[in-house]
Amino acid sequence: MAGSSTSEISSRFITIENVRVPRFLYGTAWKEDRTESLTTLALGMGFRGIDTANQRKHYCEAAVGEAVTGVIQRRMLSREQIFIQTKYTHRRGQDHRLPYDENAAISEQVRQSYGNSLEHLGVDRIDSYILHGPTIRDGLARADWDAWRAMETLHNAGGPRLLGVSNVSLAQLKMLCAGAEVQPRFVQNRCYASRAWDKPVREFCYQHGIVYQGFSLLTANRQLATHPDLIAIAKRHGRDISQIILRFALDVGMIALTGTRDAQHMRADLAVFSFALAENEIQAIELAALPG
Ligand SMILES: NC(=O)c1ccc[n+]([C@@H]2O[C@H](COP(=O)([O-])OP(=O)(O)OC[C@H]3O[C@@H](n4cnc5c(N)ncnc54)[C@H](OP(=O)(O)O)[C@@H]3O)[C@@H](O)[C@H]2O)c1
Repeated sequence: MAGSSTSEISSRFITIENVRVPRFLYGTAWKEDRTESLTTLALGMGFRGIDTANQRKHYCEAAVGEAVTGVIQRRMLSREQIFIQTKYTHRRGQDHRLPYDENAAISEQVRQSYGNSLEHLGVDRIDSYILHGPTIRDGLARADWDAWRAMETLHNAGGPRLLGVSNVSLAQLKMLCAGAEVQPRFVQNRCYASRAWDKPVREFCYQHGIVYQGFSLLTANRQLATHPDLIAIAKRHGRDISQIILRFALDVGMIALTGTRDAQHMRADLAVFSFALAENEIQAIELAALPG
């Protein structure tokens, strides 16, 4: 199995409230009947964090559980070596394959969804539990607060070690932090270079002890593949553009998500721990896709 290399530039892990959190997470969305084999492959290649959701529409959480259980049973890794993150998804983000009774109160839906995730994943605790997204675009609705309060209750009862939220605006995040009894430790957002890589949200996170997780780092930023600054930086480091983008994400303090189905890309993605960008390169990438 891939281990840590002596030529690593930055740590592969950070610690949040005594939880060891990998800087790189393997995302399991959209893999359907390849979910188990790809998750097993990713763990074998050296990924130590898995992102999933109890949302059958986009994820096959049970197959992620098969992979995790298989890796542990074969003694490739112990449970403690694998960081597991999953999500509660409101009704409107689901299809007919619901992990809860849709007529139950939201707090009960969260409880059922969490219990079902534990069964799917074959574990007795989740390392990070994420509210997949608010039910409304602006502000937080009663349903969102009910979900967060239920997540807090689970956390306080020895359930998920860390809580987080996804697909939020800065205003929504501020609102959540102001009203939360258990503070979010993660924000997981789609990260557009054309919007300064979500900088206002990232800065708020940094100031409030929240770690930003970026997804769609490659797919939302395809225009960077032909950007002259990115091409020059990639050439200077002898890396490809994808590696430069993922390294940039780590250098600005993000946890990066990748959901590649390709073993070579998995290897290339993890290889970003063996180089770092210069300050002026980071600044150039921050500005690369800004309009004007
Ligand atoms: N919270 C949310 O609402 C939400 C939404 C979307 C995603 N996510 C999470 O984020 C994870 C990642 O999703 P994503 O949207 O970032 O897209 P992704 O599924 O990681 O897709 C990356 C795409 O880029 C390609 N690629 C080319 N070179 C690559 C390289 N070196 N490394 C990696 N990929 C490369 C991949 O192709 P190959 O497969 O051929 O490598 C793939 O088509 C998901 O699995 C999920 O866990 C969360």
